Amino acid sequence: MSKELQGTTSAVADKNPQKTESSTHQHPNFGRIRSFVHRRAHITPGQQQALDTLMQKWAIPYQAELLHFDTVFQRHAPTILEIGFGMGETTEKIAQLRHEENFLGVEVFNAGVGAMLNRIENSQLNNVRIIQHDAVDVINHMIPLDSLAGIHIYFPDPWPKKRHHKRRLIQAPFVHLLAQRLQKGGYIHCATDWENYAEQMLAVLSEEPLLENTAEGFAPKPDYRPQTKFETRGFRLGHHSWDVVFKKV
Ligand SMILES: C[S@@+](CC[C@H](N)C(=O)[O-])C[C@H]1O[C@@H](n2cnc3c(N)ncnc32)[C@H](O)[C@@H]1O
Repeated sequence: MSKELQGTTSAVADKNPQKTESSTHQHPNFGRIRSFVHRRAHITPGQQQALDTLMQKWAIPYQAELLHFDTVFQRHAPTILEIGFGMGETTEKIAQLRHEENFLGVEVFNAGVGAMLNRIENSQLNNVRIIQHDAVDVINHMIPLDSLAGIHIYFPDPWPKKRHHKRRLIQAPFVHLLAQRLQKGGYIHCATDWENYAEQMLAVLSEEPLLENTAEGFAPKPDYRPQTKFETRGFRLGHHSWDVVFKKV
């Protein structure tokens, strides 16, 4: 077994995690109504090769057991969770900029995970690890309470049709689970280019008693978040994007 694999396997803190308060707060629909669809998107040979060869080195297998971040990253540093990193472009830039922090990226999409593995390997981003699994399960079963310095959720699937709004990730029960896993003073930063979802994000985060807004309404885009290709294209078409940044009180 490789050193890296041993590291990730032993990073699990507790074989029998206590049933936390959060697990009883789960939305009855989470677990059945998913925030993603399994895309049969094209995967490049390079992405497939990364999935075949780099998972053991940079990914943590999903297990319903709490993680020890110090063991996962082999150092003591603040840990930021990112949900739905897509192709990993933003994650890579932020992890390079903020190399003194750990980044744990959760994504389900094969091509995205393959692309991110290649980014980590090519840039030797020692401060990034991946879990390929539904973030709702990861939050519920792998992330200890009061453990995260931050959470990033950038351009989550907007599910624009009203009948699909129930699939949106940012809903009160899930935000409560997230807030419980932040340390006091930790932040949650969401961004979207879908106005109706931006309003939902602001409303849902404002109603969560564990969180407080860092701005009056929407926040200015923090400097560490790069403008994505989609955003750049959208701005040219006259679209906007919105950031919300809340802190745990
Ligand atoms: C619209 S993309 C945005 C990707 C990236 N954050 C960006 O800004 O380009 C949303 C991503 O979230 C992922 N996703 C949605 N729900 C998820 C979940 N429950 N767990 C993990 N990933 C999820 C999807 O697979 C998709 O890649």
